[in-house]
Amino acid sequence: MSHIHIKNLTKSYIDKRRVARFNSSIATNNVINVLDNINLEFEDGEMVCILGPSGCGKSTLLRMIAGFEAPTSGEVLINGQPINGPRADNIFVFQHSGLLPWMTVWENVELGVRHLKDISQKHKTIQEYISMVELTGFEHHFPHQLSGGMLRRAELARALAVNPDTLIMDEPFSGLDFLTHMKIREEVVNMHEFIKKTTLVVTHDIDDALIMGDRVIVMSDRPASIKLEKKLDFGRPRDLGQNPELRELRDEIFFMLGVSYAI
Ligand SMILES: Nc1ncnc2c1ncn2[C@@H]1O[C@H](COP(=O)(O)OP(=O)(O)OP(=O)(O)O)[C@@H](O)[C@H]1O
Ligand SMILES: [Mg+2]
Repeated sequence: MSHIHIKNLTKSYIDKRRVARFNSSIATNNVINVLDNINLEFEDGEMVCILGPSGCGKSTLLRMIAGFEAPTSGEVLINGQPINGPRADNIFVFQHSGLLPWMTVWENVELGVRHLKDISQKHKTIQEYISMVELTGFEHHFPHQLSGGMLRRAELARALAVNPDTLIMDEPFSGLDFLTHMKIREEVVNMHEFIKKTTLVVTHDIDDALIMGDRVIVMSDRPASIKLEKKLDFGRPRDLGQNPELRELRDEIFFMLGVSYAI
C-alpha cells in the first residue's frame, strides 16, 4: 500500500554555470525556483496523470517522490514516513532504456524477481509478465534486437515484476509511433486495472492524461504551482469524441497550457 503526501514542497536550483562564468558570489538571480509550495496527495492504487509546460518541474517532482533528490523545503511522506533517499523496494521508476543491454528480455525481467527463492515459482512469474506484455517468443532476445514498442513492453514487464507499491512513469510513450503509443497506453491502463498500484504518469499528451487518469493534475509555468486538479470519474475505455464533459475539460487544459484552440 502506498499513500503519498506532498507537503509545502519547494525546490530551487543554484545556476552554477552563471556563478562560475561571472565569478561572482551567489546572488538571488542565480537561483532557479522550480517548484513553489506544492501540496498534493496520491491515494493508494490511484493513477494520476501530471501535465505541465516543458521545464516547469514535472520530472523534478517525480525525482523527489522517488527520493533521488531532496526538497529545498517541505517534505514528501509515503505512508506517513518522510522520504530520505531512494527506496528501491517500494518505488519503481519506469524509464526508457531502463533495460540492461547485455541481458536478454528474460534476464532483465528476472532482475525484478531475483529475491524469489523458489526457482519454478520465479520462472512462472517471469513468463507470466513476459506474456502479459505480449513478448512471448522474444524471451532470449537482447534489447538491441527489439523494436521501440517491444522495448517499452519489456520495460513494463520489468517494472511489473518488481511489484512496487508505486510506479512512476516519466513520459512513458515518448518516441513511439502513433499506433504503438495507443497500444502501449492501453496496456498501461489494463495493467493498472489489474495490479491497482499507485501510478504517477507525467505526459505531454492531454489525451493520454484524460484517457488514463483517475485524476489529472496541471502544473503552471516555473516556478510551478498546481493550476488544476480534477478527478476523472469516467468509466473505461474512454472515448473523448463521445464524451462532451471530457472534451470540454480537454479544451480547458489546452487553454491553460497556452493553446487557445484544441486540435
Ligand atoms: N540538477 C539540476 N540543476 C539545475 N537545474 C535543474 C536541475 N534539474 C532540473 N533543473 C531545472 O529545473 C527546471 C525543471 O526541470 P524538469 O526537468 O523538472 O522539467 P520538466 O517539467 O520535466 O520538463 P520537460 O517537460 O521538458 O521534461 C528546468 O528549468 C531545469 O533546467
Ligand atoms: Mg521532464
